[in-house]
Amino acid sequence: MHVQQNPAAEGQLVTPEFATVAKSAMAAIEARVHALCLHYADRLPFHGWHHVSFVRAKAVGFARANGANASVVEAAALVHDVNYLVRRNSAASAGRGLRMDLLAEAGVPGQVARWIDEIVDEAEMRTRHRHISIEAQALSDADTLFKALPITPVMLAHRYLEENGVSLRELADKIVGEQRGIHDDGYYFYNRSAADRYGHWARANLELWKCIQESVDDAEVTELLDAVNAVDAAAS
Ligand SMILES: [Fe+2]
Repeated sequence: MHVQQNPAAEGQLVTPEFATVAKSAMAAIEARVHALCLHYADRLPFHGWHHVSFVRAKAVGFARANGANASVVEAAALVHDVNYLVRRNSAASAGRGLRMDLLAEAGVPGQVARWIDEIVDEAEMRTRHRHISIEAQALSDADTLFKALPITPVMLAHRYLEENGVSLRELADKIVGEQRGIHDDGYYFYNRSAADRYGHWARANLELWKCIQESVDDAEVTELLDAVNAVDAAAS
C-alpha cells in the first residue's frame, strides 16, 4: 500500500489531501527515470538526469516552503519531462502514457498517479496561470528556476537546440513568447522568496533572449550563425 489515509476517513476513497508517495515507490520511480535518462542520454542533452535531479531537489524545497504535498511534488518532478523520451520538442501531455506506466510500475495508486500527471500539466510554462495548485507551483518554480539560471544560456542552451531540433531564433521566440507575459504579470515565480532571490536572474535572462531575438534579425549575424553551423556540420 503506497498511500497513507486520513485515519478518520479509513475505508473511504483516498483523497489527494492525504495521499503520499511511499519511499519504496519513490525509489522505484527514481531508479526507472534515472535508468531511462542514462540509456537515452544522447537524446536528452538538455532534459537529462542533470535537469530532472535539479528540478526534483528544488521542487521539494519549494513544496516544503508552501505547504504542498512534498512527496507528490517530488514524484511529479521525477516524471515531469518524460515526454521528451516519447517525442522530441513535445508538450508534457505527450508523456502521459509513459508517465502513468512508470508510476503504476512503481506501485503508485491510480488516483495519486492521475494527480501527479495533472500537476505536471498544470505546471507547464506555456499554459500555467496565476492560480495553479500549490503542488504545481512548487514544480513550476523549480523548473522555471532551471530556465532562469545564469548558467543555462551559457552552458545548456545549445543542448536544447540540439535536443529539440530548433533554431536559435525559434528558441528565443519561445522563451520570450512564453515567459515575458508571465514575468510582467508577476507570477514568474510563485514563491515570494524565490522571486526575491532569483528575480534578477529571470530579468537578465529574459533581456538576454530579447536581445538574441533582435540580433538574429541582423543580416550579418545571420551569416555568422550560418557559418558557425556550416563548421559544425563539416566537423560531424
Ligand atoms: Fe523540466
